[in-house]
Amino acid sequence: MNNNEYLWVEALNKALKSNKKEAFSRYFQLATVNAERLPKVRTVVFRGMNNDGCSPLIISDTRSAKTEQITQCSSVELCWYFPFSREQFRIMGHATIYSADTTVDAQSACRARVWQQLSHQAKAQFFWPAPGSDRVDALPEEQVDVMPNTFQVISIRPSDVDHLILSNPQRRLVSRFVEEQWHVNAVNP
Ligand SMILES: Cc1cc2nc3c(=O)[nH]c(=O)nc-3n(C[C@H](O)[C@H](O)[C@H](O)COP(=O)(O)O)c2cc1C
Repeated sequence: MNNNEYLWVEALNKALKSNKKEAFSRYFQLATVNAERLPKVRTVVFRGMNNDGCSPLIISDTRSAKTEQITQCSSVELCWYFPFSREQFRIMGHATIYSADTTVDAQSACRARVWQQLSHQAKAQFFWPAPGSDRVDALPEEQVDVMPNTFQVISIRPSDVDHLILSNPQRRLVSRFVEEQWHVNAVNP
């Protein structure tokens, strides 16, 4: 592969396609930084790309710890491993929260579109008591037709991508977005 022909998002789309059979290939780990400047990481589901075609979208609850962390520090990193093609993508970027309060039409439209695509089960969680609060066994009746204020979409705009390919010959391509362009370097794995 010639470096000039390489674009990380095309490689990621190819990995998503070739790993499609594995449901868990749509899960990745998202790392944030908390108020004590300590790392926090959790698994989330990839909900497709934003309209720019390269910013991964996830869903989250307004009341979750990650919301507070991203509000204070929008720098995040996600780590995605594709077991079938044996590739890892580490994507660093800037997270933007699309909440019920947004005044940006494109953000509201994206939030509504992602909500419509969710299963009943995924929607129901946004009507449960706050994540991380003491356990309550009796859950409220869910009226999942109405999009609740607890529901938010997080869009992650990448700035640095580290793509490690474990199949022979091993390769590692490091991409950085500088002056409105992606620049890629092949480095030792
Ligand atoms: C397979 C899997 C998928 C998950 N997907 C999501 C998700 O898409 N969004 C989300 O907020 N939490 C998701 N979770 C739960 C998170 O990992 C985490 O427990 C929760 O978001 C609370 O994290 P926080 O307190 O750091 O915000 C998922 C967990 C697993 C195991």
